[in-house]
Amino acid sequence: MNSILKIGHRGAKGHQPENTLISFQKAIDLKVDGIELDVHLSSDGEIIVIHDDTIDRTTNGKGEVNKMSLKELKSFLINNSQEIPTLIEVLNLVHKQCFINIELKGIGTSKPVLDLISLYIKDKKWHYNNFLISNFDWKMLEEAQLLNPKIRIGVLTDASVEDALAFAKKTKAFSIHPNYRLLTKENVALMLENGFEVFPWTVNSFEDIQKIKSFNVNGIISDFPDRI
Ligand code: G3P
Ligand code: CA
Repeated sequence: MNSILKIGHRGAKGHQPENTLISFQKAIDLKVDGIELDVHLSSDGEIIVIHDDTIDRTTNGKGEVNKMSLKELKSFLINNSQEIPTLIEVLNLVHKQCFINIELKGIGTSKPVLDLISLYIKDKKWHYNNFLISNFDWKMLEEAQLLNPKIRIGVLTDASVEDALAFAKKTKAFSIHPNYRLLTKENVALMLENGFEVFPWTVNSFEDIQKIKSFNVNGIISDFPDRI
């Protein structure tokens, strides 16, 4: 069996503030195979890397991401030192050193993200396997596929492996990303038999990582990718 893929959650959230350039750099330094991140749109259409739909929890400001311009968003700091990054800044930092699992959190992110990916593939010689789009809202995954059938999609679920598997079959998804608490040896085997990569999240304790590894998943999304 191939070695298990290490995927850094929001960069390396266990080591650096989530979804910041220093967090993504830390993940790269830890030799991850992939990083996971979340995106929303600013009011002027920039793709912003942030988990929540407001900046309240992670920065020294307050407000909804999609009601603020990029300039306004850049005026607030995470942990007193880090700006909220754009997806372009993250792509330029990563520079093909690992794949990027982009979770489309915000409404309207499918098209701008797909357009940016196409640009990087056409002009900067990135490849489709440098990207993986995921979402809990499966309609947005279908939307992304319609925009570009070559894009790899990962079906996120916090509720049902069975439903995620059915949707993955229907859409010929690349991977299924279940909450690790939903996994059993049997349901992982079923997803693998059907040809899907299995990337559970967010597995952090050594004990849980050990257990999930024993199910033969293909990769693990963790705040501590160095523990995998
Ligand atoms: O993509 C896996 C995981 O990030 C999904 O949950 O809330 O951390 O975005 P959340
Ligand atoms: Ca996420």
